[in-house]
Amino acid sequence: MSVKNSFNIRNTTIHDIPEIQAILDRISSDWSSSILKDCFQDHYFQWVICRGEVILGFAVVKNNLDLWEIMQIMIDQNEQRQGLATQLLQFVITQAKKWGTTKLQLEVRQSNTPAIRLYQKNGFQKVGLRKKYYADHEDAVLMDCNITLASGISNLLIRF
Ligand SMILES: CC(C)(COP(=O)(O)OP(=O)(O)OC[C@H]1O[C@@H](n2cnc3c(N)ncnc32)[C@H](O)[C@@H]1OP(=O)(O)O)[C@@H](O)C(=O)NCCC(=O)NCCS
Repeated sequence: MSVKNSFNIRNTTIHDIPEIQAILDRISSDWSSSILKDCFQDHYFQWVICRGEVILGFAVVKNNLDLWEIMQIMIDQNEQRQGLATQLLQFVITQAKKWGTTKLQLEVRQSNTPAIRLYQKNGFQKVGLRKKYYADHEDAVLMDCNITLASGISNLLIRF
């Protein structure tokens, strides 16, 4: 797995919404740009991962002080499996640490194996199930990540 070419992560702005909407149009999900617009307010953080000026993916996080909730991480259809979501998730974990957050939490569809594996590889564990959580009655897997444990995993990767 390698990230092709250079990339950067920056704060999302309202002007990025059309480009993010184009990503949403290419990927079937429960998300829309109206949800994204609602997240331009206090208690939310949004970032995009870009190659040059081109947005390749985005992350939205809700800040509940000592608990951060990952609302969405999405990478454009043709840019997946290059480690981009991993880079974005590690960035989010680093930001959470800087803010003194102790835990990251999220819900993910039970059938979303790519996302569940991504989170597990980055220190998240399955901690519960929300029955019929989604509109189509699919269950949600509740996952969380202890920030101290996540930093321990990063240290192990650096050492070996
Ligand atoms: C889930 C998602 C963000 C992963 O993005 P990505 O950039 O492809 O992820 P990475 O390349 O960093 O992959 C990290 C790990 O996740 C797992 N993974 C990613 N895509 C996978 C797939 N299609 N099948 C199985 N495992 C997968 C693998 O374990 C992978 O590690 P590996 O490549 O060393 O095997 C992407 O598939 C996506 O945008 N999906 C739609 C949106 C979504 O479901 N977001 C999560 C909402 S909670």
